[in-house]
Formats: sequence, structure tokens, C-alpha cells
Amino acid sequence: MTDLVVRRLLIDLETPFERHWHGGDAFRSAFFNALSMSFPVGEQFFIDAVRNGFKALPLHKQEHFRKEVQGFVGQEATHRRLHGLFNGHLEQQGLQNAWGPRALKRQKLIEGLDPRHALAITTGYEHFTAIFADWMLRNHDLLDGAEPRLKTLWLWHSAEESEHKSTAFDLYYALGGSHDRRLAWFRRATFFFLTDVLRQTMNNLQRDGTLWQWRTWKSGASYLFGKRGVLRQSYRAWREYFRKDFHPSQQESDLSRRWLESNSRNFSVVGA
Ligand SMILES: [Fe+2]
Ligand SMILES: [Fe+2]
Repeated sequence: MTDLVVRRLLIDLETPFERHWHGGDAFRSAFFNALSMSFPVGEQFFIDAVRNGFKALPLHKQEHFRKEVQGFVGQEATHRRLHGLFNGHLEQQGLQNAWGPRALKRQKLIEGLDPRHALAITTGYEHFTAIFADWMLRNHDLLDGAEPRLKTLWLWHSAEESEHKSTAFDLYYALGGSHDRRLAWFRRATFFFLTDVLRQTMNNLQRDGTLWQWRTWKSGASYLFGKRGVLRQSYRAWREYFRKDFHPSQQESDLSRRWLESNSRNFSVVGA
């Protein structure tokens, strides 16, 4: 059981920010913008999957999950709201979110199926967010040149993703979810996540007019595949998911807890 706290982030998301808010770097800004564009639709899907999974539990098991599910829903609802505000600025900058509508269409295909399907998908995506979050917290200095309030937004989101990474997973197995189904959806989720993030990043760069600049590609190559690159450093953690005895808490690191402790001035705890 994880004790999940809902936090209200005390940052200004009203004031517009620079197009290249991520340290003046076109690639990094476009890449993070792409991720943010997937959140409102994606996180609503996770919320619904977890809620429906919870409802499908026998009553005696619900009590065990009730508080954790409430915390999960509260955290994801806050993320999607703040990223909605962030995305509003991207729209003003002329960027177009193609990922969200595409994901919505795909979600329709599994409507009405056993809730364990949506939960297995959520579990897979939550593994992605957890390893990306962990990478970001470990390499937080790579965000040093970024607009400070946005740096806080991304690290806060990362810290909470790391905190609630076991919720969907535990619920899936409490509902009798199988190992094979978990992996089948993870393979698909990996394909869709990588192609979606690539397509949206390219789309953002195209609209920004920086797609065909040499420095954009140079930055992309080092950010993804360089020594501290996100794909290079996350590959091993991604692969762990295929183990039969995998559990998200095995990849526990206290980076999340440490960030939350030393940045408490940036948020207030809801209901405290
Ligand atoms: Fe989230
Ligand atoms: Fe999450």
C-alpha cells in the first residue's frame, strides 16, 4: 500500500513562456511539449481504468485499495489539469496536438471490454512514465536552463509518477490479471508510445520551423542516445517489465521522496 498525497502546485501557469522554454533548445522543447500533449487524454484514460478496475473488485478487496485509488485519481487529475494549461500556451504558439485525438480514437476500440485490458494498458504506460520520471529526477540538472516554473512542473509530475507507479499494477493483479496479457499490452504500448512521441515531436518542430536545422538533430541524438540520453539510460529499466516476477517497487529509488522533501515550498498538500 502506498500513501498518496494530492498536492496543489504553487506555480504561475498563466504567464506565457518562450517557444524554446527548455534552455533555448528547439528539440528538447518540442519533445517535452509532445509528451505534455498526450497527458490530458492519456491521464484521463488511466483515471478511468483505475476507477473501473476498483469497481470490479470484490467488496472485501475494495477497502484495501480505496485510499490509494483516491490518491492516484487526485494526482493524475491534477497533472492533466496543469498540463492542459501548459498545452493552452502551446496552442497559442501555433503547435497542433495530433497525439491526443489519435489516442482517443484508439481508446474507443477497447470500450466495453473486460476492465483488465484498460488496466494492463495503464500499467504499461505507467511503467514508461515511471522510468522517464526516474531518469528526469536523476538528471534534473539537464533542466537547469529551462524556465524555472516549468522545471518545477516537470519534476513535480515526475516525483508523483514515481510515487504512484504501483497502483495500476497492484490493482491489475488483484483482479486476476495475467502475466501474458500484461506483456502483450506492453509490447503494443511500447510501439505506440515511441511512434506517437516521435511523430508529435517532428510535428512540433515542423511548425516551429526548426525541423531541418542541424543543431535540432544534434541535440535530439545526444538527448536520446548520448551518454546521459533518456533512451540509453532507460533501456534496462524498460526491459525489466518482461520479467515474470517484476514489480514496479523493485525499481524503487528515493529520488522522488528527496525532491518532494526539498521542494515543499512549491506546493501545498490538499486536505492537510
Ligand atoms: Fe501523471
Ligand atoms: Fe501516472
